[in-house]
Amino acid sequence: MHERRFDPAMAGKLDAPERKTWLPVEAVLARLALQPDLAVADVGAGTGYFALPIAEVVGASGKVYAVDVEPQMLAKLQARVAESHTVNVHCVHGEASATNIPDSSCDLILMANVWHEFDSHPAVLGEAARILKPAGRIAILDWCADLDSPPGPPKAHRIAKRDVCDLLAASGWKVLYIADAGMFSYLVMASRPD
Ligand SMILES: C[S@@+](CC[C@H](N)C(=O)[O-])C[C@H]1O[C@@H](n2cnc3c(N)ncnc32)[C@H](O)[C@@H]1O
Repeated sequence: MHERRFDPAMAGKLDAPERKTWLPVEAVLARLALQPDLAVADVGAGTGYFALPIAEVVGASGKVYAVDVEPQMLAKLQARVAESHTVNVHCVHGEASATNIPDSSCDLILMANVWHEFDSHPAVLGEAARILKPAGRIAILDWCADLDSPPGPPKAHRIAKRDVCDLLAASGWKVLYIADAGMFSYLVMASRPD
């Protein structure tokens, strides 16, 4: 595991009650324009902070692929899915650059608090384009690079929203909007290259 990868021993932090105050799930979901029936991939899903609420919104006719590379994180997520009797979350062991999700199967990909952990952003974007439907979108939520916010990764690991947008544009994605997400994070929404 490289030094930027989230340590599964810290998984409890992801579900700490105070997290809801500085990264409110409902406010983020409101930015995603979710609807019933959508197929959403939550890549780097962790313990399901976003995957489970998204599953409620997209409903039984929708679907959430919750992808994580760490077997320990995936086991925690699977336990929560079982406990909550959620039927539309599919836990997938995969790497962001090789997700094991079928071609052209997703309307939306969420990558929350994980962009700064990736080794190869172009490979991740290539995989995202593969699994998205033609009109699909990607939402990249990550830590503001210019803030010293105690709950997040060290400043040296953070990636500025400008750099995210520049790479998306250079790779043929269309940046639709940039928004604040909670107190310490940004959200970049982009549509898939043609
Ligand atoms: C900081 S946690 C965020 C979890 C969740 N998105 C949230 O915001 O609560 C990052 C998660 O991404 C996973 N992860 C890191 N690199 C990954 C990769 N290359 N492919 C898939 N998952 C990855 C980690 O195992 C961890 O569970």
